[in-house]
Amino acid sequence: MASKGSQATEAAKAAKAAKAVKTPKAGKADKTTGQSDFVVVANRLPVDQERLPDGTTTWKRSPGGLVTALEPLLRRRRGAWVGWPGVIDGDEEPIVQEELTLQPVRLSADDVAQYYEGFSNATLWPLYHDVIVKPIYHREWWDRYVDVNRRFAEATSRAAAKGAVVWVQDYQLQLVPKMLRSLRPDLTIGFFLHIPFPPIELFMQLPWRTEIIDGLLGADLVGFHLAGGAQNFLFLSRRLTGAETSRGAVGVRSRFGEVQLENRTVRVGAFPISIDSGALDQTARDRKIRRRAREIREELGNPRKVMLGVDRLDYTKGIDVRLKALSELLAEGRVKRDDTVLIQLATPSRERVESYQLLRHDIEREVGHINGEYAEVGHPVVHYLHRPVPRDELIAFFVAADVALVTPLRDGMNLVAKEYVACRSDLGGALVLSEFTGAAAELRQAYLVNPHDLEGVKDAIEAALNQSPEEGRRRMRALRRQVLAHDVDRWARSFLDVLSEARPTDRPKD
Ligand code: ADP
Ligand code: G6P
Repeated sequence: MASKGSQATEAAKAAKAAKAVKTPKAGKADKTTGQSDFVVVANRLPVDQERLPDGTTTWKRSPGGLVTALEPLLRRRRGAWVGWPGVIDGDEEPIVQEELTLQPVRLSADDVAQYYEGFSNATLWPLYHDVIVKPIYHREWWDRYVDVNRRFAEATSRAAAKGAVVWVQDYQLQLVPKMLRSLRPDLTIGFFLHIPFPPIELFMQLPWRTEIIDGLLGADLVGFHLAGGAQNFLFLSRRLTGAETSRGAVGVRSRFGEVQLENRTVRVGAFPISIDSGALDQTARDRKIRRRAREIREELGNPRKVMLGVDRLDYTKGIDVRLKALSELLAEGRVKRDDTVLIQLATPSRERVESYQLLRHDIEREVGHINGEYAEVGHPVVHYLHRPVPRDELIAFFVAADVALVTPLRDGMNLVAKEYVACRSDLGGALVLSEFTGAAAELRQAYLVNPHDLEGVKDAIEAALNQSPEEGRRRMRALRRQVLAHDVDRWARSFLDVLSEARPTDRPKD
């Protein structure tokens, strides 16, 4: 257990920090207690509101893996989803869909600039992803993060019925568990982090490190993709708050860690997220999808090999790594310009954040360079689409591709890797996968690469392009076994089962 002496100062700091992050007054929300027994809270709603030029609004699917994973799940369970509708000063009227109530939280232009683009995506995102770009620490951004987290906690408190289960998601809302507990001690609160939880040396850079740990400890259960993240969190809880914690190794969906607080215990675990693999498998078998996959290959001029990258346009994804590898393979004649193409689908993301603007510039220059050097008129080598594509079209791309390139420098899980595998009931295709993704812990039969080792990436791409059909089938069969057995339902069930055990005895009974 934690040795007390060395932690006295950090514990005192924690107490101070706890006061600094003011939590809303207990009981304030009592008269507005809501209807929902199960509430998901995430920065984004599953759909983004879009304002059309004629002044009307429409809705479109939100980007990113969090929504991919949670959306089908919440529809099945019924409940409420509290989140931002993706526009400035949006409407706060609840939207009642068949099984699901969406509760929008309004963000102003300053909220978006300071809480979302600033603290969430220019401070926490790079810090938690191995400082691939330098995190920026601004006190005003932090203040706004606290303020917006408080508003999310209040909105959640209004949506949740007495004794409800609330599941808070991701790095944008790490203060919500503690704020919500203070407002509504009757709730059972889970928290899941969808991105990596960084090593201690990096996390300690954060000026508000104790406040963040303290915020998360408001939950009954804190979940990570990997056991390593859970271990890091246990260590930091001990170090920064002086709490007693378990010391044994955390398992995957087993051997949970514990942080002992004054009057309750917080459990800590590893729950690797997944996709709706069965549904994807079914859709990918559809005749229409298979026809479309053939058409895509024809439209490309029936090349011998089609490679595919599918990502949000983010510097963590290593899109530059795969382009550089392709460029060198072409230069060395190991990939032939006239029989191989790469399709890179890139969803626009966080476009007002400077590091994303720089990344886009670099990627587009490299695409231009490769095509400038190796394309013929009407036959580009790299087909680059800077936009989201409709779901069925994306599935057809997965079915059409001989090789999927998933080369992040760091990624919490990476659902694209699992989606590709789920779509390959034909046992065709090959997956090149970075060791620095959470998915690599499960998808061991992929062509695993270290994205920092360019020669290794080139060798893996070459091997994947030239694998024998038997080798391909052997690998894909094993990958599919893993992905089909561990779907998103299993992920949610394993988390929520442990959360329900956490229902504390010290809660008010009515
Ligand atoms: P992240 O959550 O960091 O964006 P993931 O790989 O875990 O990364 O999840 C990304 C999700 O977004 C996947 O479901 C993927 O299919 C989807 N996606 C990514 N790029 C596109 C695109 N260009 N068009 C449609 N969907 C996309
Ligand atoms: C990742 C994050 C999510 C986020 C998504 C899209 O999946 O873990 O929390 O919603 O990216 O990013 P965005 O900034 O557009 O919400």
